[in-house]
Amino acid sequence: MASHHVSPPDQGPPAGPAIHHIGIAVADTAAALRLYVGTLGLRPGPTELNERERVKITFLDGRSGRLELLEPTEPDSAVGRFLEKRGEGMHHLCLEVTDLEGELTRLATAGYQLVDQIPRRGMHGERLAFVHPKSTHGVMIELYEVVR
Ligand code: CO
Repeated sequence: MASHHVSPPDQGPPAGPAIHHIGIAVADTAAALRLYVGTLGLRPGPTELNERERVKITFLDGRSGRLELLEPTEPDSAVGRFLEKRGEGMHHLCLEVTDLEGELTRLATAGYQLVDQIPRRGMHGERLAFVHPKSTHGVMIELYEVVR
């Protein structure tokens, strides 16, 4: 009996949104880089300071995915409060979308709790929005708009 979980062959590339990155809250970027770069071999980009969010951000490339290390610069920042409450660990899952407003409308209509009713701007002008983990099975979801 065929399982509906297994895609039939010859259907082309998998459908659905790509995972853009996984965000991980860390207390000490240098210590986390010793693990992810020094030991596990991911490739780091530059560490950037996001003054508005009060967080240091370092993207790491693996062969098929990216990590985003988030280290708060102040305890009362969003990531600082996350660390205080939940400790180091996975902070968010980021999915690529092509119609950010449309996704936010669909999520809100379906009853999911948006952190951002309207998209916010990332450090380099990119448009993104977060969905609250209370309504998404415990994982905050970042929607990141890609322009195709
Ligand atoms: Co992110």
